[in-house]
Amino acid sequence: MDAEEIKNQPTPDAQVGAAAEETEENFNPNWASDAPRGGRAVLTRILKESATVPLFFAQTLVQSLRDVGYNTRTSALCEHVDNAIEAGATVVRVYFRQTGRRGAHETDILVYDNGKGMAPNVLKVATSFGGSMSYGNRKGIGRFGMGMKTAALSISPVMELYSWQEAAAFYGMTLDTDAIGRDRSNLVPLPEPSFNSILPEPVLDMFTRPVGFPKDATEQQLLAPNTTNVYEELGTHGTIVFMPDCDRLTYASDRKLVEHCVKEMARVYRRQIAKGLRIYVNNRSTQAVDPTYSMANARHASIEGLNAKTSRLVVAKTIQVPLNDRTTETAPVHVKVYALPIDDWSNLTRKELGSSLHLFDGQVVSILRNDREVYIADLHSERNRLISPVGRNRRNGHLLVSNQVGNIGSMVYRCERSL
Ligand SMILES: Nc1ncnc2c1ncn2[C@@H]1O[C@H](COP(=O)(O)OP(=O)(O)O)[C@@H](O)[C@H]1O
Ligand SMILES: [Mg+2]
Repeated sequence: MDAEEIKNQPTPDAQVGAAAEETEENFNPNWASDAPRGGRAVLTRILKESATVPLFFAQTLVQSLRDVGYNTRTSALCEHVDNAIEAGATVVRVYFRQTGRRGAHETDILVYDNGKGMAPNVLKVATSFGGSMSYGNRKGIGRFGMGMKTAALSISPVMELYSWQEAAAFYGMTLDTDAIGRDRSNLVPLPEPSFNSILPEPVLDMFTRPVGFPKDATEQQLLAPNTTNVYEELGTHGTIVFMPDCDRLTYASDRKLVEHCVKEMARVYRRQIAKGLRIYVNNRSTQAVDPTYSMANARHASIEGLNAKTSRLVVAKTIQVPLNDRTTETAPVHVKVYALPIDDWSNLTRKELGSSLHLFDGQVVSILRNDREVYIADLHSERNRLISPVGRNRRNGHLLVSNQVGNIGSMVYRCERSL
């Protein structure tokens, strides 16, 4: 029986009064005082007027999406680097600028790339949740149309985007969660992108002035020495994601943010860096770090005093893994096991093995998808979970790792489709 039918029932007056009260109470949302006011107004109106319900309540959903999990801040920032790589970027710059007193500082984060940029209509779609130019396509990295937005909003309440496909024609879009929360319309539309021939001051500032860390400004390679040159450097295509006044980083110092970012990105994007991608974090270029020690152009290979520079490939196998348990369709997983050059490296001191080579970090199982690391773990905690899908090769793989190679084996699963 719906509200209309109830109203039409021949009931005594007293009962009608009680029903009305009850209904009023039903329609009174029990929201927190700081919950989005616009959202509350919309919800109440919809309940009272029995209006069409949108599949998503924009005012509240955008707030809730801020808490959709990224394990680390760096993993959120990697969403922008993934997009940059897909847009064909050869340079990515990540900035953490901290201002104000320690403990009460403001942190602005910016990711710039020199990829192909977005046309205004693409920019508009890209700002929308679920909006993607490669939805469901497993050839690239992104495929859900969520990454850029959820990642940016998971650290800042505001995402400012600038993208251009010709010189000094910057199209801008802003997602401001507080402003959306105040909006009282049932359907929150995205505005047209704004056209700008110049960039806002805080953005220009990132490109032209040293950031606080590293402290020694001479270590920092700025994009441009002044605002005139900046537009030349930004060229005819690129994208900027600006996350001002990040409110989810309260206790993190810029030094910590930078160090974690460098450590993760150096490893996650090692193959792209080796192929020529330059990733700068706070104006310093990042060198590839290879947990399998097999790449000749990664950081470990430039450590002085090593005779053997790389590990040795001892197993290379392609295994067909079923996509899921309802299909016989399979996807190839390339498994590689490497042995470290123990004879040579056993002569090194513990300190060299630890702080230079990082051999004790325990990260020995690395899973890549389309040349980007998607998972890293130590062998013991992940042995059952990761090695068992390899099925009948499990035993050999395991024996090889623990007996012949010892605990120093590194394993790479290169997974093309099944992850
Ligand atoms: N840095 C960028 N350069 C060019 N296009 C981008 C960039 N970032 C995002 N885009 C566009 O925005 C769309 C949405 O990005 P995102 O929310 O990360 O979802 P997905 O990557 O899953 O498509 C992408 O499909 C792409 O077309
Ligand atoms: Mg993406």
